Amino acid sequence: MCGITGYCGPRPAAKVLLEGLKRLEYRGYDSAGICVAEEEGLRLIKREGKIRRLIEKVPTNIKGNTGIGHTRWATHGRVNDLNAHPHLDCSGNIALVHNGIIENYSGLKEKLESEGHVFLSETDSEVIVHLVEKFYQGSLEEAVKEALALLKGTYGIVCMHRDHPGLLIGARNGSPLVLGVGNGEMFLASDVTAIISYTKAVVYLEDGEVVTLTAAEYKTTDLSDREIEKKVEAVSWELEEIEKGGYSFFMEKEIFEQPEAIKRGVSGRIDLEQATAHLGGLNMSNRDLLNIERVRITAAGTSYYAGMVGAYLLESVARVPCTVELASELRYRNPIVERNTLHFAVSQSGETADTLYALRELQRKGATVLGICNVVGSSIARESDGGVYIHSGPEIAVASTKAFTSQITVFYLFAMLLGRMRHLSYEAGLELAHELQAIPTRVEQILAKQKSIKELAAKYAHYKNFLFLGRGINYPVAMEGALKLKEISYIHAEGYSAAEIKHGPIALINEETPSFFLVPDDGLKEKVISNMKEVKSRGGRILAVAVEGENSLNNIADDIIEIPKLKNGLFYPFLMVVPLQLFAYYCALDLGRDVDHPRNLAKSVTVE
Ligand code: AGP
Repeated sequence: MCGITGYCGPRPAAKVLLEGLKRLEYRGYDSAGICVAEEEGLRLIKREGKIRRLIEKVPTNIKGNTGIGHTRWATHGRVNDLNAHPHLDCSGNIALVHNGIIENYSGLKEKLESEGHVFLSETDSEVIVHLVEKFYQGSLEEAVKEALALLKGTYGIVCMHRDHPGLLIGARNGSPLVLGVGNGEMFLASDVTAIISYTKAVVYLEDGEVVTLTAAEYKTTDLSDREIEKKVEAVSWELEEIEKGGYSFFMEKEIFEQPEAIKRGVSGRIDLEQATAHLGGLNMSNRDLLNIERVRITAAGTSYYAGMVGAYLLESVARVPCTVELASELRYRNPIVERNTLHFAVSQSGETADTLYALRELQRKGATVLGICNVVGSSIARESDGGVYIHSGPEIAVASTKAFTSQITVFYLFAMLLGRMRHLSYEAGLELAHELQAIPTRVEQILAKQKSIKELAAKYAHYKNFLFLGRGINYPVAMEGALKLKEISYIHAEGYSAAEIKHGPIALINEETPSFFLVPDDGLKEKVISNMKEVKSRGGRILAVAVEGENSLNNIADDIIEIPKLKNGLFYPFLMVVPLQLFAYYCALDLGRDVDHPRNLAKSVTVE
């Protein structure tokens, strides 16, 4: 999604802006630009392509200590220099960057053109800077507020004016914007990764808020000029957490961080004395929890598959009926919200528009919605009625890996908590607690197989189509494995219930379409093996993730990745997903893909 940076202070603005944009590259983009206030006027440099191409165009003698920057992920208008941000007004005195979608931009643009404004780009964003120009009569803040009042849609913006070189105006409505409070300098950005190398003191803007800042101070108001008191918060991350730390790609780093991330997610949340879990932040009493009669989970992408695992757990461990629905579908389905139903919105970024709007629709109907997020202070985290942070640490790669295992960790904990309030015995609760605490070590054992998985990927990376097949609690893992492969290697892959392939997909089976089966030694193992035989008998190539020593597969599967045997089959999703993450990663490497920034994708999809 688009990235925004802004700076006001003693440093050379261009350097700060470009460094910030580099830290936001992971959000996905196709063009970039900066604008700096120099004595002679605003200096605008913007270009299609990666930031390194932009840097080539930035003159070494660029001066100016106030500026704005942007990485664009195209929604309206082609990918080219003109459509890149920042955008200027007709006079060239006002510059603005925008993240979001202005839904009523075409009417506004027609009116502005009829009043003589000349547009250079095809974007919706450019209407904002011309509106500011229209309303500007000396106060940039007032002009921005008047312009924003006419907009329908979402925005995160930063605006500057050549006549106010030490001033920036930022505002948000639906697209994130965070203020970094420095010592004699101020920063604005789409998220903290662009700020924390300078300051960890941040202020998260809420929808409808405007921040007016100079190097020395800032003021937050709403669009009607009412002052808003905002808390300065401390970012808990360290800078190195958003560096690659010696790995080739953030995705590789984050796959290998999973044992630590799962440990962090469990830490302080298991009560061995009561054989249950403690989850702060739910904002629900035990009585509230006891009154829960059903759960509904909503999310997108990988988070949706984590929610599917969560649903199996809640029904199996806590015996609470649970459904999972795609946020983009739920939002427009006029959902039925019943009493005593607990809703979860699952989102790593906490900014996914589909999930955020589904949350708002559910709350509009009176639902209690808990957020399961990774990014502290994100929109979903702040707007939900409570929730649980997954504490996986910043996930920079577009392909979500450690967030998935950290999200399901939270569902294991929540299932224990609810289960032990109902029928789950002390012994059963204790067994779950011990199994969960042992998972990081088990995951490490699988990560140690990276070399053999890399060799397997090299053997299969040339195939054009894959099926990923699992049953029960591992069916969502098959879906996730297919998503991983397709989104970073661009190989077509479909996840399916292993049983379901005989109802159609088996027509796809031939030598050129390998099938990846998940074969845990749980109650469904024999069923999965018979599905494998159906594929084998039709000449399909078979890869399998199976428990160590599962010799019955030797004459069926062409290749097997072995995982440790578990006492409780409910925990296999942790162990099944890691080989699929590594397989996808190494296939993508083999094919020379830009693993951390796959084409067409963004880390956080903040548009519908
Ligand atoms: C997963 O690898 C993708 N990046 C994508 O499906 C992602 O999971 C989805 O966009 C949801 O993102 P969120 O968890 O930040 O809401």
